[in-house]
Amino acid sequence: MTVFTPEAIKALNDPSLFIGKGFIGGEWTVPSSGKEFPVYEPSSGTVLGMVSDFGLADFKRAVADAETGFQKYSTSTTAAQRGQLLRNWFNLIMANADDIATILTLENGKTFAEAKGEVSYAASFVSWFAEEAPRSYGDVIPSSTHGNLVMTYKQPIGVCAIITPWNFPAAMITRKIAPALGAGCAVVIKPPSETPFTCMALIELAVRAGLPGSCMQAVPTKDRNAATELVTNPIIKKVSFTGSTSVGKHLSKLAMDTMKKVSMELGGNAPFIVFEDADIDTAVDGAMACKFRCSGQTCVCANRLYVHEAVADEFTAKLVLAVNRLKLGYGLDPETTQGPLVNRGGVEKMTAHIEDAVSKGAKIETGGRKPALPGFFHEPTVLSGVTSAMAVATDETFGPLAPIFTFSTEEEVVALANNTEFGLAGYFYSKDVARVIRVSRAIECGMVGVNTGKISAAEAPFGGVKESGVGREGSKYGMAEYETIKTVTIGSVLQV
Ligand code: SIN
Repeated sequence: MTVFTPEAIKALNDPSLFIGKGFIGGEWTVPSSGKEFPVYEPSSGTVLGMVSDFGLADFKRAVADAETGFQKYSTSTTAAQRGQLLRNWFNLIMANADDIATILTLENGKTFAEAKGEVSYAASFVSWFAEEAPRSYGDVIPSSTHGNLVMTYKQPIGVCAIITPWNFPAAMITRKIAPALGAGCAVVIKPPSETPFTCMALIELAVRAGLPGSCMQAVPTKDRNAATELVTNPIIKKVSFTGSTSVGKHLSKLAMDTMKKVSMELGGNAPFIVFEDADIDTAVDGAMACKFRCSGQTCVCANRLYVHEAVADEFTAKLVLAVNRLKLGYGLDPETTQGPLVNRGGVEKMTAHIEDAVSKGAKIETGGRKPALPGFFHEPTVLSGVTSAMAVATDETFGPLAPIFTFSTEEEVVALANNTEFGLAGYFYSKDVARVIRVSRAIECGMVGVNTGKISAAEAPFGGVKESGVGREGSKYGMAEYETIKTVTIGSVLQV
């Protein structure tokens, strides 16, 4: 296949960060099969570059190398040294932020400004866990047996499988591997086949930062059977996955055969509620931030907008004005404020949800069409008159579609919000303090945004309840996902 390297790649400050190989056994490598797969630019649908397509034998080798790396890294570094290595990596990520953001924009489609924001967000996890690594304390516990002492150590769990999505090609890598490396684990990463180049640039910078190559393996593949090794190989002690609920359930079942610890950050169907006492302008700003971020392709995007009937007309009119100001286009064009979807499937789902809603009585307030642009674009769209009978009520769109439902009471809307098997994020707007406490407790989600559409940050625990997953990433809880607690009871050491 002939690939024409885009000018933006040739113009990187450091073109050597654009890597189409895998990283196994401490070196950049290609599979003996010579197989490769194409990575597409969503803005044009053309091939951005070719990437090595590793097979089962390569995954087995990566896991074995990671085990060797783990034994050495976990025993030869102090927590403070691991924190310093992460700090070095953070500095290199920030120093190369423009290059990483350019690569990220080309393979994911999000605008350069958004990609720069993601690089800072990704780096914030590295900085956070650089600080957390030396603070992984154990306990000394009063024993119920005279003379005994009970203590706990936190120990790295071992080799971790890291399986990441394409919507945050940088942040989902760092949110998982920074705590793992900080705890003293080794990782084997399967980056998403849509956006592997950002992962490889980050790994290259981690190596330059001094992190031992043997404790990081990055193995791109299109071969699902090969990747299954990561959830079945007994050497792997932990699986961290971000992606769809159906894939997460499948991987969890396989991982349970060898009782691996799992973190699953899965699908959402976030409610976004605007009560009658809300500040409508703040609610519109929040809806724009959490609905149209990454063209609506985040697990925490608002999927169902419930607006009180008394303020529905005002909210809808203001949201339409804001949506009409979005400028669709190529992510590296500075005028662009909204990029494409990642692939054709994303566009098809938008179309299906809009057609279904309109056929059941919804009205298109703005957008609704595929624009005459190359690549995988869809107009940001607002629908009104949406009901529970429509697909958007139960199915995550993962695209720039804002469907507006109306409601009349708090009790009714809380029941509607909770009427889903998902429970990742939820948002609501109200100035009534008692309602803020009441509704934030009643909403069945792992994360609730009150009067804000921005809930993601390194210090805030990220994760869901119900079928949105298990485990928490980031925050003071994130490192525990990569550790075990060892209890040591010492007999007859204390005089009584
Ligand atoms: C995701 O959509 O998977 C992550 C979103 C975030 O970190 O805010």
